[in-house]
Amino acid sequence: MGDRYEDVYRQSIEDPETFWGEAAQGIDWEAGWSRVLDDRNPPFYRWFPDGRLNTCYNALDRHVESGRGDQVALIYDSPVTDQVKRYSYRELTDEVARFAGVLSGLGVTKGDRVVIYMPMVPEALIAMLATARLGAVHSVVFGGFAAHELAVRVDDAKPKVIVSASCGIEGKRVIEYKPLLDRAIGMAESKPDNCVILQRPLCQAAMTEDRDVDWASAMAEAEAVGCTTVEATDPLYILYTSGTTGKPKGVVRDNGGHAVALHWSMKNVYDVQPGDVYWAASDVGWVVGHSYIVYAPLFYGCTTVLYEGKPVGTPDAGAFWRVIQDHKVRVLFTAPTAIRAIKKEDSEGKHLERYDISSLDYLFLAGERLDPDTYHWASDLLGVPVVDHWWQTESGWPIAANCMGIEPFPIKPGSPTKAVPGYNVQILDPSGEDVPPGQEGIVGIKLPLPPGCLPTLWEDDIRFVESYVSAFPGFYFTGDGGYIDEEGYIYIMGRVDDVINVAGHRLSTGRMEEVIAQHPDVAECAVLGVADDLKGQIPLGLCVLKSGVDRDAAGLEKELVGMIREEVGAVASFKAALVVSRLPKTRSGKILRGTMRKIADGQAVAPPSTIDDPAILEEIDSVLRERGYGKKDSPA
Ligand code: COA
Ligand code: AMP
Repeated sequence: MGDRYEDVYRQSIEDPETFWGEAAQGIDWEAGWSRVLDDRNPPFYRWFPDGRLNTCYNALDRHVESGRGDQVALIYDSPVTDQVKRYSYRELTDEVARFAGVLSGLGVTKGDRVVIYMPMVPEALIAMLATARLGAVHSVVFGGFAAHELAVRVDDAKPKVIVSASCGIEGKRVIEYKPLLDRAIGMAESKPDNCVILQRPLCQAAMTEDRDVDWASAMAEAEAVGCTTVEATDPLYILYTSGTTGKPKGVVRDNGGHAVALHWSMKNVYDVQPGDVYWAASDVGWVVGHSYIVYAPLFYGCTTVLYEGKPVGTPDAGAFWRVIQDHKVRVLFTAPTAIRAIKKEDSEGKHLERYDISSLDYLFLAGERLDPDTYHWASDLLGVPVVDHWWQTESGWPIAANCMGIEPFPIKPGSPTKAVPGYNVQILDPSGEDVPPGQEGIVGIKLPLPPGCLPTLWEDDIRFVESYVSAFPGFYFTGDGGYIDEEGYIYIMGRVDDVINVAGHRLSTGRMEEVIAQHPDVAECAVLGVADDLKGQIPLGLCVLKSGVDRDAAGLEKELVGMIREEVGAVASFKAALVVSRLPKTRSGKILRGTMRKIADGQAVAPPSTIDDPAILEEIDSVLRERGYGKKDSPA
């Protein structure tokens, strides 16, 4: 046991050029590369530096040319609008080529940015691929973010065109997108030349003359355009993700390394074959959606499922099993929180009795730690391997996984198994030294990162260096803490920075603190990610009032909850802000967020030796307990 994986892994680390050079044969290149890895300018590494290709061609056209034109490429399954729609590779290529014609008619050319702010409709995927077809750069913004977050991303990416829709549908609620878009453009300094708006039957958006273009009319007149060849190292997309400060990080993905890594992962990590039905139940606004709803399944000639619904409530906790049955899904990939939501409503798995899910071979989970309870529940219910795997927006594809296509290992619940070939994962102590097996530390990855990982941040090499490669020279800093056991199994225990993970959504507590600090009555505040049975973590605000301010706590809480919803978005799930007289700090003035989080989670806390006034912890404990935190059961 372990020889096959060991051989593959060793070659990927010791001879990455041969390893990735071979993997690159799975991609069609307009012109081959003369070297696989350009490592002359560390910490900036470039894969396939002089290779030339087009990402959209590799996802679509080449499959039509090689006889896969009639195979279904995309199944849109939308319980919220009661629709199922299928696109063959030929049909999807035609739609994408025509939408590329629309964008090109609006002046979009190679290197221009296109922001996509859309719900889970096929047009979102079509817009992404059309942008890639032109060699332009897309930046998809998750629909659950508020106008201000969209504006920040627009100002950073400076798009020529924004593609959006009249509305999204959240369960039974229609969420109008267009007013949010108009407000975001109003706030942003960088104005797009045009917006292309998809009018959905449930809601007609008011159009802005001379700026807004109707999707359907533009498509009716558009001519198909071909693929623009780009350098392997040219950017394919920017995806903003939460960092420790309020300003999101613009993770850049290149074209060549991305295509090679994602294509390789389909066979080796997920064990799929071309033609298989692969379903990532995520959102195109997140990295899982980019990589495993859109690009990887299409690079590999699979059928991908785009699901506009929730695991529960659309209409019930059997929704996922229905989709698996109806479309003969072989691999399902989702977040543990989705499984917990199903478990909460249907702990005995009764809904499953109504469906035939015999097509399912694997359930892959990522986005947050897979707790052993959820693992056992899903594994017992489904009777297929439940594979935890760990990755980040920055990596774009799995860093640690039980690689089903290489050699499956026995599963250890709580561990995403071993490092994926290409990633030299090590556990470091604060001084950057390796720690022994079993000991917790910071998870680092020895440079260079494999193809597909971020080469830099959008127009911000300095922040890239400061955020990721300065803390431990020669290593990429993941922001996660964890350990590796004697058998090489990796355990990821959580973030060591101010990033939290709410229902698989990555959010910055720093950003929420910035918003709360704007309230005229608040002197200072801390936002913590506290444990939650369903969402993994949820944010909790603790605030100190300005001296002389006498406020009713409930009224203030309502205002703060409203501000976060307005500024960050509903997706933050910010529901609680409590008033305390002081925040615990070190003698040098650093707020002890970790200590407060432990109290809120009901863990034993010894006051840190550096605390300025240990007595304050008693007040924090009592305020939290009053609201139901600090106990083993869920907070109120
Ligand atoms: N557009 C607009 N609003 C959105 C949105 C979107 N795309 N996505 C979420 N929201 C809103 C929700 O409507 C909700 O609003 P509310 O506070 O008014 O009810 C809020 O943001 C929080 O949403 P969510 O985190 O989805 O919570 P939920 O209670 O509606 O559902 C789960 C809980 C567990 C079912 C849901 O979070 C889920 O399916 N998670 C899977 C996560 C996932 O796929 N992550 C991707 C990484 S793999
Ligand atoms: P995102 O960039 O949104 O994909 O979030 C990445 C973060 O989610 C990681 O840094 C981890 O903290 C967490 N994460 C993702 N997958 C896992 C996993 N399988 N186990 C533990 N944590 C995970």
